[in-house]
Amino acid sequence: MNLAEYLNKLLAIEQECTNFLTAANEKTEVSDIKNKFLGRKSELTALLRSIVELRPEERGEAGKAANETRTKIESLVNQKLNATPENAEVLDVSLPGDKFSEGHLHLTTQAIKEITKIFEKIGFYKVRYPEVDWDWYAFTSLNFPLNHPARDDWETFFIDKTEQDPKLGKRVLTPHTSSGQVREMQTGRMPIRMINISKTYRRQIDISHTPMFHQFEGLLIDKGITIAHLKGVLDYFVKEFFGPDRKVRIRPYNFRFTEPSFEVDVSLPDGSKIGKNGWLEIGGAGMVHPKVLEAGGIDPKVYSGFAFGWGVERNKIVQKGIQIDDIRILYQNDIRFLKQF
Ligand code: DAH
Repeated sequence: MNLAEYLNKLLAIEQECTNFLTAANEKTEVSDIKNKFLGRKSELTALLRSIVELRPEERGEAGKAANETRTKIESLVNQKLNATPENAEVLDVSLPGDKFSEGHLHLTTQAIKEITKIFEKIGFYKVRYPEVDWDWYAFTSLNFPLNHPARDDWETFFIDKTEQDPKLGKRVLTPHTSSGQVREMQTGRMPIRMINISKTYRRQIDISHTPMFHQFEGLLIDKGITIAHLKGVLDYFVKEFFGPDRKVRIRPYNFRFTEPSFEVDVSLPDGSKIGKNGWLEIGGAGMVHPKVLEAGGIDPKVYSGFAFGWGVERNKIVQKGIQIDDIRILYQNDIRFLKQF
């Protein structure tokens, strides 16, 4: 390489750099250009090092020209940097959007909707009655004699013990959805096919009880209703809710408001860790007691009916096979728990 060639190379580098800078319109591009033309691996740096390849008398002029080129490029780059706005925000419409995290219904609400739908399919209608109701609806009308110790079994919250209605007694937080039975009979609707899903309250709180939970109460009253109808409805519900392979078993039991009364068991899948010998008790049921029909103004000689009352949360937990060490977590609004369902 001779001096002329060396000087030409310097000119070419400067020209190329100018072209790059003209085309650049973002600060990051200008920085890249600075690196390319002035960095340790730049052509200019290599050219400065190769000065030893020139004849000694040419080296002075070549070095001077190279340094001038360097200074020139530096000032061009700095000028361009000052004249270039901050990086424009890049909008790439083809990128996936930001996803908002979505909430969902609480496990209990999901269960209530699901249970309602199952019963609506066979002609039941949903009702709601007061959650603060009279003792009479919760107990007396359901054939619990006054001061019967059975009232304690339900661990009831009584409200304002001094205020009493001569016929209806004290006010209570409804300890079961059965309190809706006589209220429904009093509407005069016939036939009755109610499904009453509501909050229920009991003075119990430990790892397997919350003082508020939900029940669903079925009540069907018409002419000629028998246990066979009850069994048919229970079979239908269990297959819809738990799956087509599940079976229902009813065992004699005692409730004041049904005669005969039953506890209802559902069969469990093979290898299930819960229940007894493949069966799990999930609720109560029975044929409505004649005295209860009378309390609701219905003639037991003309009409008969069945009722059942089950826990919403309990059934949902069994349905999903959820292992819960402490049932109270259902109502603690811990998002880590709730978002799993
Ligand atoms: N009310 C009862 C309870 O809370 C459940 C129940 C049993 C409801 C039998 C009924 C029934 O309608 O027929 O434990």
